Amino acid sequence: MIFNNIYMIEQDFVCTDDFESNGIVKWNSPSNIALVKYWGKKENQIPQNPSISFTLSKCYTTTSVEFKPKKNKDSDIIFEFEDELNHPFSQKIKLFISSIEKYFKFLNNHDILIKSKNNFPHSSGIASSASAMSALSSCLVDFEYLNSNKKNSLYYINKKSFIARLGSGSASRSIEGPISLWGLSDSYKESSNLYAINISEEVNKIFHNYQNTILIIDPGVKKISSSIGHKLMNENPFSKTRFDIATRNISLLKDVFKSGNLDEFINLTESEALMIHSLMLSSNPYFILMKPNTLEVINRVLEYRRETKLPLCFTLDAGSNVHLLYPFSIKQTIQKFIEDDLSLFCKSNKYIHDCLGKGSEKLL
Ligand code: PMV
Repeated sequence: MIFNNIYMIEQDFVCTDDFESNGIVKWNSPSNIALVKYWGKKENQIPQNPSISFTLSKCYTTTSVEFKPKKNKDSDIIFEFEDELNHPFSQKIKLFISSIEKYFKFLNNHDILIKSKNNFPHSSGIASSASAMSALSSCLVDFEYLNSNKKNSLYYINKKSFIARLGSGSASRSIEGPISLWGLSDSYKESSNLYAINISEEVNKIFHNYQNTILIIDPGVKKISSSIGHKLMNENPFSKTRFDIATRNISLLKDVFKSGNLDEFINLTESEALMIHSLMLSSNPYFILMKPNTLEVINRVLEYRRETKLPLCFTLDAGSNVHLLYPFSIKQTIQKFIEDDLSLFCKSNKYIHDCLGKGSEKLL
């Protein structure tokens, strides 16, 4: 295994340690919001273009995994979500665990009990796969760390992101923060398609403690899964241009992070958000994930910015909710605008104030 190499390959992540041990580990891991979006992938969760996100802090998943040497020939995997056994997520988690066994030989020797819950409200329409998969991956890799002689921290950080990526691409970017990059980019020499890297150094202080408010426009379940969305990009007539633009945007954003030029930041962030929705509109079958209130809020944000000259901007995920981004210095003014005006367009006036954070955190 190569420890000191900056760049790691898939084989580096195979753990052949065959121990048997009792133990419990517990981690929190947050959601993240992409600025340059990941939309389109190749086989084995390899992204078509690099992406950059802000790691959030207030919306997170807490997961514990208890390991016991197995009693029967086959290992038992029990998954509880929000204290509910046989939750619809169970099947997905069990399939995921079987698919990553080659990276953790010791999984074959253990029965495992996984308990997971989100701290953000049910059906808020906030993507939870990033926080869920990064929390689970942090637990599995931590158990390997506790039972291994290898103590190279970069290996474990990269492996957490590598395993999280196999569960959900964007989850690879939730392990560290406040700013992560996943996917090969000429602009970042340590970047990889296999795991995300932390690119928070050399970032202008205007981005320190940047704020993110999620306006809950529609708490319903998304109409299409992101895996279908990624797949549709294989046939989308604009995909090649999209992947080129995203790759270029990584390098532009790197410059913006250094300069702190918020006009350019806003332009790039909003155009990325609208672009992935335009790709959904131009897919076959096409789908419209914005709601009338999504557009209403976007127009009000644009108008507010024109009038006040304050650097408030929006981004979108693959859904109708609007993520607002603004510097810490104008937090009070913006949060008053949200409360007095924008909240009227949210379902049950609901919104969540979040801000940048440091990624997954060990609890036990
Ligand atoms: O991680 P996935 O497969 O759920 O894809 C996430 C895609 C977006 O959230 C729309 C964009 C992104 O980069 O997070």
